[in-house]
Amino acid sequence: MSYYALVPAAGSGSRMGASSGRALPKQYLPLAGKPLIWHALSALCATPAIAAVFVVLAPDDVAWPGEEMAALGERLHVLRCGGETRAESVTNGLRGMVSELGMIDDDWVLVHDAARPCLDVAMVERLIAEVGDDDAGGLLAVPVADTLKLCEEHGRVRQTVPRDGLWQAQTPQMFRHRLLLDALEFAPQVTDEASAMESLGLMPKLVAADIGNLKVTYPQDLKLAEWILRSRQAVPPATAHG
Ligand code: C5P
Repeated sequence: MSYYALVPAAGSGSRMGASSGRALPKQYLPLAGKPLIWHALSALCATPAIAAVFVVLAPDDVAWPGEEMAALGERLHVLRCGGETRAESVTNGLRGMVSELGMIDDDWVLVHDAARPCLDVAMVERLIAEVGDDDAGGLLAVPVADTLKLCEEHGRVRQTVPRDGLWQAQTPQMFRHRLLLDALEFAPQVTDEASAMESLGLMPKLVAADIGNLKVTYPQDLKLAEWILRSRQAVPPATAHG
C-alpha cells in the first residue's frame, strides 16, 4: 500500500487580488522567504510515508519556480493539467498520476491545497494513522468555535445556526485513488473531495486538526501564516533534559 500527495495549484487567487491577469497567482506570493506553495510541498516531501508528491499546475503557468522547487527532491512531480475548477484540477491530476505510476486503484491519495502553507509532517502522519485502512477515507478538520449567523440581505442576521456537530473541513483529505476518481466523476461540482465521497454515500472520518493549518484566502491571511511559520522556526527542538 502506497501513499501519494496531490496538490492542486491551478487557481488564480482572485480573492487575493490576482484577477487582473497581471498579479502573481496566490500560490507564488512570497511567504517567509519562499513562494507560498513551497511550504506545503516541503512538508509533504518531508513525510516519510509519502512516496511521491504531484503538483497540478495550469497548462499555461509561467510562474512555477522550477529550479527552487527542484531542491525539494525527486519525489516532487509536476503535472500541467489544471482545470477550470479545483475539482477538475484534482480529477485531471488523479488521471495524470495513473499515466506516471500505472494502476494505483487501492493506494491512498492525500489531496492538499497549495494555499495551506502551515501544514507540518505531524499533521500528515496523524491523518494517515487515524484513517488507517478505512475505505471511506478522512480529512483534517476543526470543530466550529464561533456562533454562526445566517445572513439575510443587506448584511443583517436572519437566524443563528446551531453549531453543534459542525466542523470546518481542511486539507489534506485522504482517499483511495479509484474511489476518489469515481466520486469526482459522479459529483464534479464539489468544493472538496470529502463532499464527492459523501455523494457516493460514504462517511469520511473527521480527524481533529489545528486552526494553524489555515487557508490563505485574503491578503491579511499571509501575515498570520508568516507569523505561524516563523514562530515554529524560532522554537528550539525539545532536548532530552526537557
Ligand atoms: O481558490 P481556493 O483557495 O479555494 O483554491 C484551493 C486550491 O485549489 C488552491 O490550491 C488552488 O490553486 C486550487 N485550484 C486549482 N484549480 C482551479 C482552482 C483552484 O487547482 N481551477
